[in-house]
Amino acid sequence: MKDFKKSISKSISSITNIDEENIYEYIEIPPDNKMGDYAFPCFKLAKDLKKAPQIIAQEIKASFDNIKDNTDIEKVEVVGGYLNFFVNKVEYIKSVMTEIYEKKEMYGSSGEGNGKTALIEYSSPNIAKPFHIGHLRSTVIGGALYNIYKFMGYNVVGINHLGDWGIQFAKVMAGMSMWKEEYNFEEDAIGEILKLYVRFSNEEKEKPEFTEMARQWHIKLENGDEEAVRLWSWIRQTSLDEFNKTYKLLNSKFDSNNGEAFYNDKMQAIVDELQDKNLLVESEGAKVVMLDQYDMPPCIIVTSAGTSIYATRDLAALKYRINTYDFDKLVYVVGGEQQLHFKQIFKVMALMGYEDYVKKCEHIYFGLVVDKNGEKIGSRKGNSVSLDEIINQAISKSLAIIEEKNPSLPNKEEIAKDVGVGAVIFNDLCNNRIKDEIFDWDMMLNFNGETGPYVQFMYVRTRSILNKANLEFNDIKNIDFSLLQEEETFEMIKHISNFEGTLTNALNKNEPSILTRYIINLAQLYSSFYSKHTVMCEQPNLQKARLLLTKQVGDVIKKGMEILGINCPEKM
Ligand code: ARG
Repeated sequence: MKDFKKSISKSISSITNIDEENIYEYIEIPPDNKMGDYAFPCFKLAKDLKKAPQIIAQEIKASFDNIKDNTDIEKVEVVGGYLNFFVNKVEYIKSVMTEIYEKKEMYGSSGEGNGKTALIEYSSPNIAKPFHIGHLRSTVIGGALYNIYKFMGYNVVGINHLGDWGIQFAKVMAGMSMWKEEYNFEEDAIGEILKLYVRFSNEEKEKPEFTEMARQWHIKLENGDEEAVRLWSWIRQTSLDEFNKTYKLLNSKFDSNNGEAFYNDKMQAIVDELQDKNLLVESEGAKVVMLDQYDMPPCIIVTSAGTSIYATRDLAALKYRINTYDFDKLVYVVGGEQQLHFKQIFKVMALMGYEDYVKKCEHIYFGLVVDKNGEKIGSRKGNSVSLDEIINQAISKSLAIIEEKNPSLPNKEEIAKDVGVGAVIFNDLCNNRIKDEIFDWDMMLNFNGETGPYVQFMYVRTRSILNKANLEFNDIKNIDFSLLQEEETFEMIKHISNFEGTLTNALNKNEPSILTRYIINLAQLYSSFYSKHTVMCEQPNLQKARLLLTKQVGDVIKKGMEILGINCPEKM
């Protein structure tokens, strides 16, 4: 799109003789469109020009009105020390809509990531346990970030840092070695593995020999014992097959499933390196890195039992990623409970001399999933809900709503899938990620609320209008952009023009909710446009212009939703 800010800064620069680039930086978007489309705070120049901001504003306006060479700007107003600029609406509309028309699928992409690599680590459930609701947030937030980075041109590597190692795993193996025959793994492998795990943990409370048995399995596994490795691979693959069904529903993509186990043979090197760099100390039989100088508890590297732990594997993982991918960013999408863990990991790596890489790492955390009373869902108390159950419930609830609203719709099951999954994802991404997510069926499936189904419904509306009109836009030469200047229409076009800025902002803050809010607003703007103006009106030129706009709104909604990981059905 034409850069109106640039055009304004050029004019101000020629009037004031101040560097255009500085001026560009200062230009703001006013909070209310009655104050114009762009504003320039003149107090920024007060020092250089040695004048009061109000005077500067008056003088710039006077020259601006005199010269009249800037056809991009319709009028300038002075309000206090501010200059408010009103763009030439027709120029603006033409420029936005032409850009959308020309860039098509890539409209909104800044290309800022071209030539850069971003690693997004997300989802990372623990194997041999069901996929629970806490991992939903990581999966959904990480998935959206994956798509945002990719769309902005990054080479993205999505990593599922599976929890496929550690003592819980050894417990399952120990349990299997005793009771394998008693379980029906064919039917529901994960469910059965979990039952076995719970049984083992319960019996362990009374039988200390169980703890020792698990420890032995852990050591066997770390030493590459054949039977241990075979059992481990089976459990891992079975779990992964199960998780993949959920990933398919959620449209999650991973380029690497290298989990904790992958670093087993890379751990000794980390221990040695820490030793060489004089960072390891003995403490109560364990080997640790002291972090008291940084107000943190010690980071345990080798336990007193001689085994590696979660942190060791994370250090090995980061070292591996440094060596393998020449990354520009590494984002860990993991819950807020692990803030200390990541601070420790980053600090230890910095102490080891990898500060430059640590600067590129960020722990992107998020709040809990709570019910409408604020109670945590899926806590360890045993009220854990599996993700599959939730998604299937969302789909069947959506199907019921569709059956009621539109019983003759073809492909109801497919559409219910898009709506149900969309509702779950949208709800997760709707608010600032740091906030707890409220999980409430009525709220998230409300077709009139700020929900996924509402947005999908608005998209469907744009498509049904276009289908009725049956018009192809093979070129836009004959579109009369001056017909789209009404208040709501222009406001909507301005909003569309912020798509790229919204994505940039979402990327910089690693905050998909910025995009979600943008899409809700666009859907709402279309809704008010639609209730005020008839698209299929009598005047052919007006109809054509409104139809093109309708198509473009629909395309941007669809693209935005796709980036969030949500499919927009064509009918619903
Ligand atoms: N599997 C872990 C859990 O469920 C999350 C892993 C997060 N990633 C990491 N690099 N530590 O708690």
